[in-house]
Amino acid sequence: MRRVYFDNNASTPVLPEIFEAMRPYFGERYGNASSIHHHGQETRAAVERARESVAALVGSLPSEIVFTGGGTESDNLALFGITRTGDHIITSTIEHHAVLNACNHLESSGCEVTYVPVDGRGQVDPDDVRRALRPNTRLITIMMANNETGVLQPVEELGMIAATADVHFHSDAVQAAGKVAIDVKRFACDLLSISGHKMHAPQGVGALYVRKGTILQPMLYGGSHERSRRAGTENVPGIVALGKAAQLARKGLQHGEMASISAMRDRIEQTILSAGEAIGVNGAGAPRVPNTTNIYFDYIEGEALVIALDLKGLAVSTGAACSSGTVEPSHVLTAMGLCPDRARASLRFSLGKQNTPDEVEFALGLIPSTLARLRDLSPVYNRAAISS
Ligand SMILES: Cc1ncc(COP(=O)(O)O)c(C=O)c1O
Repeated sequence: MRRVYFDNNASTPVLPEIFEAMRPYFGERYGNASSIHHHGQETRAAVERARESVAALVGSLPSEIVFTGGGTESDNLALFGITRTGDHIITSTIEHHAVLNACNHLESSGCEVTYVPVDGRGQVDPDDVRRALRPNTRLITIMMANNETGVLQPVEELGMIAATADVHFHSDAVQAAGKVAIDVKRFACDLLSISGHKMHAPQGVGALYVRKGTILQPMLYGGSHERSRRAGTENVPGIVALGKAAQLARKGLQHGEMASISAMRDRIEQTILSAGEAIGVNGAGAPRVPNTTNIYFDYIEGEALVIALDLKGLAVSTGAACSSGTVEPSHVLTAMGLCPDRARASLRFSLGKQNTPDEVEFALGLIPSTLARLRDLSPVYNRAAISS
């Protein structure tokens, strides 16, 4: 059975050249990067080359990159590493749970948190952030691109607000890295999270950019790895893969590789929108990363459509992968003002470098009939059709 995967915001396949780059570090290059002998020096050199590639992707110095076990850890290290009891944090209502639940925990341990809203297109208003500042504000943490809608946040303005107020600025760039250009110096950010498995490296590796001079309390205690900011023997194969992924992503951005991905995304949107009624794009009109579209199909249950499409070979998702399985509507979509029914009727299509226009046509061939069948079964749809 043919299978097409349009759920790259949940996880991407490891690209063959990235797999080849990491392969020797599972085999003949096994040294501990802290060892001073040949084997250790070989892996140490590989880790430092990877650090240079990740730094080049985000516009930082190599020494400002800390390797972690993924996006969640990077976000947690940023938040817990910077804040103390009594501090005030500003974040948004549409953050990933890696930030939201870290904020919840910080609240229970004596920090204050302001959750700024977003508008109907899913964007934070920088003036809301400015107004939320307090004398004890220590950190603004607002994501660069939302994982569900792909909507980009005004990080340059937010960085300026933070710098002017002398407050730290962290941005979760897990869904932005490799899809849009990032230059940490341009948007005055002190901390920025990325994750390997959203950019064709494996799951379980990530990085946190920490601006030089930023005092960060570690979360793990042990050896003095990563300049004492993240103890633990380095995941060398994962780090090498992340370095290679960063190198490919940078090259891809320089050569306009994202244009073909956004062309496929636009074709999906246009075809689906023209194929039926009561369908629309969540976050339409806002700047978005090129690979993501989030579409509502009123009168159906998103989960039912995901399952029906999966049975025909197309993998997409409702909301964030980590909240799949719960019946709660997406916190991102409801924060944008969608009613719970419309939020539950929304699907995310997210493309990756491995997807092809032929796969797009395959997907587009499945969607209208699957949607029509589900709507035929929907009592709400039939009532609405009769009353119109
Ligand atoms: C915006 C965002 N932040 C953080 C994470 C967590 O990253 P990881 O899965 O590497 O822990 C994700 C994963 O979905 C994400 O989309």
